[in-house]
Amino acid sequence: AHADHTLRHSTDKLVGVAINPSWFSNGTYSNIVASEFSSITAENQMKPDALQPQQGNFQFGTAHQIIDFAQQNNQNVYGHTLLWHSQSPGWMTSQSGQQLLNTLRTHITTVVNELDAVQQWDVVNEILEDNGQFRNSHLMNTGLGQGFVADAFHTARAAGGPNKSYCMNDFNTHSINTKSNAYFNLVQDLLNQGVPIDCFGFQTHLYLGEDLSTMQANMERFANLGLEIWISELDIRINMPASQQELQEQAQMYAQVFQFCLNVPACRGVTSWNLHDGASWIPGTFPGTGAAHLYDENLQPKPAYYAVLETL
Ligand code: XIL
Repeated sequence: AHADHTLRHSTDKLVGVAINPSWFSNGTYSNIVASEFSSITAENQMKPDALQPQQGNFQFGTAHQIIDFAQQNNQNVYGHTLLWHSQSPGWMTSQSGQQLLNTLRTHITTVVNELDAVQQWDVVNEILEDNGQFRNSHLMNTGLGQGFVADAFHTARAAGGPNKSYCMNDFNTHSINTKSNAYFNLVQDLLNQGVPIDCFGFQTHLYLGEDLSTMQANMERFANLGLEIWISELDIRINMPASQQELQEQAQMYAQVFQFCLNVPACRGVTSWNLHDGASWIPGTFPGTGAAHLYDENLQPKPAYYAVLETL
């Protein structure tokens, strides 16, 4: 640990958090985001439905508000996400063929150009199922099939140039399993074809007690492909109510995940998906669980926060 006792000043790795700008008016929230974190990701505000609610009608105001906050606080901005099967507007998901392909290219190009401060882009998010097969979504209906992925990376890179990182991102990929094996093969094939993929984001939505014994080796094999690595959406959910003992166990898991990033030179950073238990996506998505974040419902640091600080 370090003399300046904050997460962001204790490490050269980026320490990120998913933010919701509707919380910026809460002074405690914005002070913590600014003082503790060196990178921010918009929780929802850079997704396709937020940026292009109607075709050709781009809405960049909130995204720029987030970028302004980051620049005032000397923070990296991680862009999430250019394409996704979810949180895309209905007008977009109902298109197909050349029309859809043109739409996706226009979306990517316009967003990457406009939000030039963004340093990393999730170009595609969650394109595979847990069984390693391509997810069936509107994205497969461009006429290119799986080729939409290569097209999206080429389009993003053409718009944003070589000084940004273009990423794939998915959940249940942090360990060695069927899904991460499929991604490993897919990325390797695409790189061999000259597709400009720079990074892989392991979302890392964990449950208390999950086996992490293969996580570092998994990160290392992706790093060996030449990729930058992100732990892009870290949270560790607990069956509610959470006991003090469980919060201590959670703290050890958080510390371990940050240690993996410290151990792998290609790991660029760790982003916590939500700042605090009082505004969390977890209970709605995984009913009966919660208490997944570094800060509690009152924005007080939890054992997990202190364990991470000690580890950095
Ligand atoms: C979640 C947000 O946290 C929620 O507010 C929203 O309702 C749904 O999306 N994987 C991702 C993120 O890539 O975009 C998701 O964020 C969490 C899972």
